[in-house]
Amino acid sequence: MLPDAAPIRTPYRATTRPDGVSDALWNSRLLRACRGESVDATPVWLMRQAGRYMTHYRERRSGRSFLSLCRDSALAAEVTLYAREWLDVDAAIIFSDILIVLEALGMELTFLPGDGPALPKPIRDAHDVARLGSGAQAAADLAYVYAALRLTVKDLPAHIPCIGFAGAPFTLASYAIEGGGSRTFTRTKSFMYCETPAWHALLAKIVDALVPYLHAQVAAGASVLQLFDSWGGELSRADYLEYVQPHLVRLVRSLPSTVPVIVFGTRTTHLLDLFAATGADVVGLDQHVSIDAGWQLAGGAGNISVQGNLDPALLLGSRTRLLAQADAALASAKGRLGFIFNLGHGIIKETDPEQAKALVEHVHRVTSSGVG
Ligand code: CP3
Repeated sequence: MLPDAAPIRTPYRATTRPDGVSDALWNSRLLRACRGESVDATPVWLMRQAGRYMTHYRERRSGRSFLSLCRDSALAAEVTLYAREWLDVDAAIIFSDILIVLEALGMELTFLPGDGPALPKPIRDAHDVARLGSGAQAAADLAYVYAALRLTVKDLPAHIPCIGFAGAPFTLASYAIEGGGSRTFTRTKSFMYCETPAWHALLAKIVDALVPYLHAQVAAGASVLQLFDSWGGELSRADYLEYVQPHLVRLVRSLPSTVPVIVFGTRTTHLLDLFAATGADVVGLDQHVSIDAGWQLAGGAGNISVQGNLDPALLLGSRTRLLAQADAALASAKGRLGFIFNLGHGIIKETDPEQAKALVEHVHRVTSSGVG
């Protein structure tokens, strides 16, 4: 069953300052860029900014599993805050993972060292979908994320927003069906085509969990939400429209308009206008499209902000080339209001942290005469 469309969400650009949001936070670079307002320098943060490329992270992670680190709210907050401060980025992103929602829905989840995530009992049919827990229960079981958010926000400088996040419906469904990562998404696509009612039931259940989960993240202090549809670009536009878009629209429309919503995916150049059409406030670009072309695809009219999109592999190369390509990305934004500098995908674990720090410093320095 396709979902009924939820009422249209008021865009973040059209909201007035919500109660409880300080002047410093409301006027932070990131939130101003999300509203398409002028900034004193381009806001920058890096996907996966807290992770294995950092010694601090590897030390906190040693002798314990990745999931136990996610569940230890004090340690998750510490890892989040350390990366934010050391890099001097304009946002924190809460240390967690997109897959814990599947675990909260009743699926077994493990991370095998060096092998990525594994869900040993994947979804195979409509019965497996029916056996998943309720969305409300799943959201209630993720209290450790809300605790980590509260601890993080308490210790963040007043002008630094904390980003909450979740996986988008397609990407989460693909992990649930494949039982882990995939190159071809064969099981996912065959489930989608051959078990279509169960497919829609699965995406509806995922959205039913994501809505209270993301609301609770905002209640705990997240002031931006990012949806990761990391693998959504695997689908053709026609398939995305038919099998995924109605669920993504219901999700975005159900989110609070007191915070901006960023929708990000990789290899999604053919889907950028669909992401914008969900009512998202910011569209995330990967490195396969230029900022200028991606912005036009997402809606050149100027009602949308854009985030991206430096190839994370550039951090592995020379400093000169890295900074020159950063300049090229900035130039490609053409001075439009609402640009957020980021990578095109998560930071690679072999990255020298000094390269990441130099990139952030460079973006701030070359844009510090202001944008807008
Ligand atoms: O950006 C941040 O700093 C916040 C933390 C964050 C993690 N995962 C930590 C993590 C975020 C935002 C995610 C999202 C996530 N998780 C996505 C979407 C973003 C993307 O990269 O496309 C996806 C697809 C996942 C699923 C996932 N989690 C995979 C495929 C892996 C293994 C791949 C790898 O890099 O080893 C993880 C594990 C994971 N999530 C790690 C971290 C720091 C490494 C775990 C470890 O310490 O061993």
